[in-house]
Amino acid sequence: MDIKKRLLENSKLVEDFLHSFFEGKQTKLYEAMQYSINCGGKRIRPFLVIEFCRMLGGDVKAALPYAAAIEMIHTFSLIHDDLPCMDNDDLRRGNPTNHKVYGEATALLAGDAMIFSAFECALSNKFASDANRLAAIKELALASGAKGMCEGQMLDIEGECKTLTFEELLSLHAHKTGALLKASARLGAIAAGASDDVINSAGIFGEKVGLAFQIIDDYLDRYGSTEELGKPCGSDAANEKTTFLSFMDAEKSLEYAKNVTLDACEAIGSFEKSDVLCELADYLLQRKN
Ligand code: IPE
Ligand code: IPE
Ligand code: MG
Ligand code: MG
Ligand code: MG
Repeated sequence: MDIKKRLLENSKLVEDFLHSFFEGKQTKLYEAMQYSINCGGKRIRPFLVIEFCRMLGGDVKAALPYAAAIEMIHTFSLIHDDLPCMDNDDLRRGNPTNHKVYGEATALLAGDAMIFSAFECALSNKFASDANRLAAIKELALASGAKGMCEGQMLDIEGECKTLTFEELLSLHAHKTGALLKASARLGAIAAGASDDVINSAGIFGEKVGLAFQIIDDYLDRYGSTEELGKPCGSDAANEKTTFLSFMDAEKSLEYAKNVTLDACEAIGSFEKSDVLCELADYLLQRKN
């Protein structure tokens, strides 16, 4: 299977869905929101939602509103992450960051509004029952807020200029990045109407892929190129962040990422057609952006 082709196909599905969701919305705030959501991105989280739903025999139509919703939460997190009071970065997805184009106040609001659009979008899922939409919304809320991504961003800030323990770094990564990837996998299973046990196995995969993903993100921040990444290299060092490379050298950190990826694939190994998701996990280890 050609994983890059599959990534492009799934990106197109979610991007078409996002286009129709935002179609005709022309205020300044919507313009700023659409600037960030339309300007690229690998769409890994939507991929997980779509492919978990497919693997479990669900209808992709029921997965798309959840896939778009998690991409909106992710995009909000990036808009705020780049602000001067956070990582202070000027480049994102190969383009100037939201606050560079629209100013800080609008970028703040575009991020805020994106959160609520995510919930609006999940709620509008015509191919799911009320109970299913409720489960999806609970998943989005828990993964995004003070028990998930926002807590991770808090720990990340606390790790500036202060060395965390390795345990604290693992918790940081699990919250900051793992929470949304775990939720993506679980949302795919929820869209397919899977049992709690199956949803939990999907979550273990997402959690482990999330850790590997952030290890590679930390690696690329130091050893990648700004041109390929579409965001500035050296941001972590400039902000004196604690990252995986604060604890081990490049080779060891790549090996760590490889091992958690193997654990991720093992968590879903008993499902028929888990190969697409395992290929994605392997591809993410080799990515250059
Ligand atoms: C960047 O995520 C932020 C992290 C959690 C590391 P991605 O690398 O998925 O960013 P895009 O969506 O492709 O731009
Ligand atoms: C941020 O992690 C993860 C988010 C919740 C946005 P990073 O700060 O390392 O992400 P990049 O490197 O700017 O994409
Ligand atoms: Mg950050
Ligand atoms: Mg950042
Ligand atoms: Mg980073």
